[in-house]
Amino acid sequence: MRLIRLYLVSILLLLSARPAIAAECAIASAHPLATRAGCEILQQGGNAFDAAVAVTAALAVVEPYASGLGGGGFYLLHRSADAFEVFIDARETAPAGATRELYLDEDGEPRHRASLDGASAAAIPGTPAAIDWIATRYGTLSLERLLAPAIALAEQGVPVDARYLWAIGYREALLQSSPGAAVFLDNGARPQAGYIVKQPQLAKTLRIVARSGRDGFYRGQLARELVKAVVAGGGVWELEDLAGYRLIEREPFTISFRGARISTAPLPSSGGLVMAQALQILEPLALEKMDEAQRAHFVAEAMRRGYNDRARYMGDPDFVDVPVARLASRKYALSRAASISADRATPSSELPDVADPLEEGSDTTHFSIVDRKGNRVAATLSVNAPFGAGMVAGDTGVLLNNHMNDFSLAVAAPNLYRLVGNHANAIEPGKRPLSSMSPTFVSDERGVLVLGTPGGSRIISMVLLGVLDYTLNPQVNLARIAGAPRYHHQYLPDRIQIESEGFTDHWVAALRAKGHTVESGGRRWGNMQVVFRDAATGRSIVESDPRGRAGVLF
Ligand code: DON
Repeated sequence: MRLIRLYLVSILLLLSARPAIAAECAIASAHPLATRAGCEILQQGGNAFDAAVAVTAALAVVEPYASGLGGGGFYLLHRSADAFEVFIDARETAPAGATRELYLDEDGEPRHRASLDGASAAAIPGTPAAIDWIATRYGTLSLERLLAPAIALAEQGVPVDARYLWAIGYREALLQSSPGAAVFLDNGARPQAGYIVKQPQLAKTLRIVARSGRDGFYRGQLARELVKAVVAGGGVWELEDLAGYRLIEREPFTISFRGARISTAPLPSSGGLVMAQALQILEPLALEKMDEAQRAHFVAEAMRRGYNDRARYMGDPDFVDVPVARLASRKYALSRAASISADRATPSSELPDVADPLEEGSDTTHFSIVDRKGNRVAATLSVNAPFGAGMVAGDTGVLLNNHMNDFSLAVAAPNLYRLVGNHANAIEPGKRPLSSMSPTFVSDERGVLVLGTPGGSRIISMVLLGVLDYTLNPQVNLARIAGAPRYHHQYLPDRIQIESEGFTDHWVAALRAKGHTVESGGRRWGNMQVVFRDAATGRSIVESDPRGRAGVLF
């Protein structure tokens, strides 16, 4: 038995360790079995949108700690026939019973754990709505066919790998206290690598969605079971919250940088606005001529300012007035750039505080797909922390998200990712928590790059570094885009965080000499999935982050 397990794990590792290849099936995802599910659909004649639905459902099974029916996310779609582009916002929403005080104690102090653990942490899921919407609006195959690979995986089971084990370590105790989560454990204990995780209840729920689409999840028996379990666990969901869930089609956020067109996430993701400011600050600089530490100094200063505005202004645009046009403008970026010195780090305390009144009015997953016709999808999906809220709702097999923690529980109270915010991202019934997830396309005369990654607050920085690598180098190098060492500045805490590997002492010393605090993030972060389609040949190449292959999540 052990040998069979080892064999299965080695096959999986081999499959996922493939280097960049020219691919008929141009799908990069965090798990080889999810990639395979998408490839099967493309082989059956489905398009990139069909494949995105199949990959979403398969990831819910094979990477249950990262995304799933109990979570939400964003999809960026491009249809080649008419160059139509749309951003599908399937972000979770706060239930009607959620108020600003929900996670505050009698003294007004945030009760962080209530927004992280169990039923009280869960927002209303968006992923099931996205599955139905994308299949019906943009796909060509039936939901039954698209979900078949995921259902088979849930029934037949999936071997535990290193990433699964890392995630379970983070959530073991909570999962042990949720009866429905027993499937993730081996007789109540942490399983060994190669243990086969079967999810029969999730398979049943997927069958309901395959048959009845959106209504199968948000109304009727399944909805009643979800609400009952959440309320019994101390949450505030009501049937109307599920029935009233609204997926929103939004215009993608576009930025031009050095002749490339970047199409990325609008609010309620902060990705587009933060990147717009950072890229416009960086555009006039001779980045290519600088040594690496000098370039990193400017990039970190640009990140600092972008994330500062994330904290000050950003939230769900359907609930708060965010001065998007101003924050996205070149004029504004230049005014922000004026305070950057080439020699000295700007202390974050010199930037405007989050508490200022407005001047004017592990885990998540990403996949990238390009089909033969050039249709493409970048999708970042999440249940937030590893294994979300650590609770499966009743007998539904649905693991709940803990995205209520992405709201600002109180002004300037740091969340799980140490991000701060203010009233713009305060809880309101029906509101979407501010996100950093940033599925992105970068196109220029060479072709189009489709990319994204998990990684909490660091997502925007990682995508930004990927965009800079692509646009500043004449040769497209996917291995470098996915694999290069990463650094990050998010305004507060006031430090450049760096991965544990890949930076020289000289680089660190040069930044410290300018006054930066440089701190090792303790591990490597991200799990970037990239596809590049060459405009001249129409061929695509794919690359997955080596960190994911090595079993590292954040
Ligand atoms: O929406 C967001 O920005 C976060 N909830 C994403 C979480 C995440 O990427 C966790 N990953 N490793």
